[in-house]
Amino acid sequence: MWWLLPSVFLVSGANALLRPDDVGRAPALGWNSWNAYNCEIDADKILTAANEVVNLGLKSLGYEYINIDDCWSVKSGRDPTTKRIIPDPDKFPNGISGVADEIHALGLKLGIYSSAGTTTCAGYPASLGYETIDAQSFAEWGVDYLKYDNCGVPDNLTDTYTYCVPDSTDGSFFPNGTCVNLTDAAPAGYNWATSTTAKRYMRMRNALLSVNRTILYSLCDWGQADVNDWGNETGNSWRMSGDITPKWSRIAEIANENSFLMNYANYYGYPDPDMLEVGNGNLTVAENRAHFALWAAMKSPLIIGTPLDTIDPTHLTILSNKPLLTFHQDPAVGRPAYPYKWGYNADWTFDPAHPAEYWSGPSPALGGTLIVMVNTEETTQTRTAFWKEVPELKELYTAGKKGFKVVDGWSGNDLGCVRDKYSLKLGAHDAGVLVVGDSC
Ligand code: GAL
Repeated sequence: MWWLLPSVFLVSGANALLRPDDVGRAPALGWNSWNAYNCEIDADKILTAANEVVNLGLKSLGYEYINIDDCWSVKSGRDPTTKRIIPDPDKFPNGISGVADEIHALGLKLGIYSSAGTTTCAGYPASLGYETIDAQSFAEWGVDYLKYDNCGVPDNLTDTYTYCVPDSTDGSFFPNGTCVNLTDAAPAGYNWATSTTAKRYMRMRNALLSVNRTILYSLCDWGQADVNDWGNETGNSWRMSGDITPKWSRIAEIANENSFLMNYANYYGYPDPDMLEVGNGNLTVAENRAHFALWAAMKSPLIIGTPLDTIDPTHLTILSNKPLLTFHQDPAVGRPAYPYKWGYNADWTFDPAHPAEYWSGPSPALGGTLIVMVNTEETTQTRTAFWKEVPELKELYTAGKKGFKVVDGWSGNDLGCVRDKYSLKLGAHDAGVLVVGDSC
């Protein structure tokens, strides 16, 4: 199988699920209905979002997928004859294909949702046992992206062992994957790619690869069954945690978990810390900024989850940040930013409230190095990037290049030639973004 070939000649993670036409190569950019509307969806809302992606300039920044989440079909069951899932005629009078046509006419792509079980999380028909039929429907309708959830799993298909997902264990998890007090933990050396969870997801992958349309495959198993080990060969992104909520504590908690997974992220395969909450709940402007900066730096899929027809201009500005999007989509470097210093904590500390605060990564498209500094504390604090500590700069610095050209990534202000270090005063839960260019 071509997708199992080691990708030694390509810049991507080993065993990544390579797709034609660069689909899934860089992390996905788009919008999804769930965080904005939950089950209250219809064609109007989806098409409004699509039109706004164009009108607000988000399409020209690269946002392309418009994704329908749970609750799009007739809940009572499949068509008794064809066994196909039936789009809800009240919500989608022209079917999913009608929506797809309009979205394609805007130069955008359409995503849909199902689950590797008999029902979705909201109780609608899902794809277990019907993978090929559903993949064929999606392809015929013009679907370009499938988010595949983990609800409705029959009792006889649950895993033999329990994998320790960090956020379900309330602090009893350690980043090396060990759990305390887990009575049904897998024996050492257990290969989670052979688990029933992995198999359920691989069945849909095979079905998608068998249809005559390229459909980006986004796994949503909430980090279970050690998906970081087999997600890369199975899909183009994989959720590594439970659901996000529009609260800083939850955003920090997921960022902390994902910070330990950055070696898994590269072209065609990305750990997914869940969709964006920018614009939702009572997040402060600072928190919205830090959320977006961290998600972009981690090369998470950036899937907007707020109603776009009423979006606050401040939130739109955050989602439109060019340096972060340029870094995120860099055509020459697949790896994300890595934490280079934890700051508040000693390096490599697993702390749900205080994730790593100092991140950096190379980006030719950006003309240098991205640095993100976060203040995870509750009060205003100073955070300083010392060039001698930044992995991308330290060699030059040691060789005598003490100054670098710096631009503030939020304001776009040219900070000129900055020697040795740059400090920012950051409010609670805020993030600074620096673009560091040539030495000077
Ligand atoms: C969850 C999933 C959410 C959303 C929801 C729909 O399992 O993580 O992102 O899709 O189901 O019911």
